[in-house]
Amino acid sequence: MSGRLKIGVLTGGGDCPGLNPAIRAVVHRATAGGHEVVGILDGWKGLATVGAPLTRPLDRAAVHGIQAQGGTMLGSSRTNLLKREGGLDAAEANMRALGLNALIAIGGDDTLSVAAGLAKRGAAVNAIPKTMDNDVWGTEGCLGFDTAANIVTEALDRIATTTASHHRVAVVEVMGRDAGWVAAWGGLAGGAHAILIPEVEFTAAALDELVAKLKARRAIGDGSSIIVVSEGVKLPAAGSTTTSVPLDEFGHPRLDKVAVGDALATILEERSGLEVRCTRLGHLQRGGAPTAADRVLGTRYGVAAVEALEAGRLGVMVALKGGAIVEVPLAEVGGKNRSIDLSYPPLFPHFD
Ligand code: F6P
Repeated sequence: MSGRLKIGVLTGGGDCPGLNPAIRAVVHRATAGGHEVVGILDGWKGLATVGAPLTRPLDRAAVHGIQAQGGTMLGSSRTNLLKREGGLDAAEANMRALGLNALIAIGGDDTLSVAAGLAKRGAAVNAIPKTMDNDVWGTEGCLGFDTAANIVTEALDRIATTTASHHRVAVVEVMGRDAGWVAAWGGLAGGAHAILIPEVEFTAAALDELVAKLKARRAIGDGSSIIVVSEGVKLPAAGSTTTSVPLDEFGHPRLDKVAVGDALATILEERSGLEVRCTRLGHLQRGGAPTAADRVLGTRYGVAAVEALEAGRLGVMVALKGGAIVEVPLAEVGGKNRSIDLSYPPLFPHFD
C-alpha cells in the first residue's frame, strides 16, 4: 500500500501476555515508516460500536514500557461480528469514518475468523496469532503460550513440595480448550506423573490404568503424584457434560463451569483410596508479565504485520515456521486448530 497509512490495531478474545509487546511493535514500526496508528478498544466490539467506535490514538509515548506488562492496553472482548446482524457492516463503516485504510487484528481463531470475514469483503486486514492455548492453525507459535507454560511449570514446582509433604495426589487443571500444549509443556517441564490432553481420548481403560499407577507408586513408597489435566479433557462416562454450561458468543462452553479437575480428583480419590487435592490454575496462566520469548515474538509479529501492509500483502496472518516469520492467508486459518503432534514419542499418552 502506498503513502501514509492510518492503521487500526485491536486485540480480541482472551487476553494473554505478549499482546502489549505486539501493540508496541506495531506502533514503533508504523510510526517509523511515517504512518499513524489508532488503537481500537475492546476488540471487535469497539470497532463495531455504531456511531461511536471506541478508540484511542497510539504514538510512541503511549506504548512506552508496555512490553513488560501483561494483558492488553487496548482491552478485549469476545465479540463475534459474523453472528451479529450488521456487525461487519458496522465495522466497515467505522473504519471509513475513522479514516482507517488498514487494520491489524491480534487474536486467536475466533478473532481471526472475523478478520478473515472483513478481509473477504475487501478491507485491508492483517493479523497476528495469539492464544495461550497455542492452537491457532498455520503457526508454530502463538503469543501467550510461553508465559503460560512457564507459569504452569513454576506452579507444579510449588505444588510438588506440598504434595510430597502430605503424600497426596495433586490434580492440576490448566487451560487448553481444544489442544493440550500448555498441559504438555508445563507438565513435562514440571515433572508431572500423568498428563491428560484433549487430543487423546481419556477412556475408561486409561482411567483404570491411571488409578493402578497411582496405587503402584504408593506401594513402592513413592508417596505423591502429580496429574496435569487440560480443561478440555472429557472424563469417561461423563456424557455430554458441557450442554448445560453457558456458551460464549463463539459457541464455546465456559469450561471453568465444567471443572474437570475437581471431577477427576473426586473420582481418583474414590477409586484409589488416596488423598487427592485439585488446584485449578485458571487465569493465573494468562496474567502477569510476558516472558522474554513472548516479548520477542510479539515484537517480531508486530513489525512483520506492518511490513506486510506496507508491501501490499493483505489478508494475511504473520506466523512462525521453523523459527522464521512467514505469512499465511487468513482465509486458510479459520475453523481449524493446531493439535499436538501425537507422534512425538514418548510423550503421549503420558503416564510417567
Ligand atoms: O483464550 C483461550 C482460553 O484461555 C481458554 O483456554 C479458556 O477456556 C478460555 O480462554 C477462558 O476464557 P475466559 O477468560 O473468557 O473465561
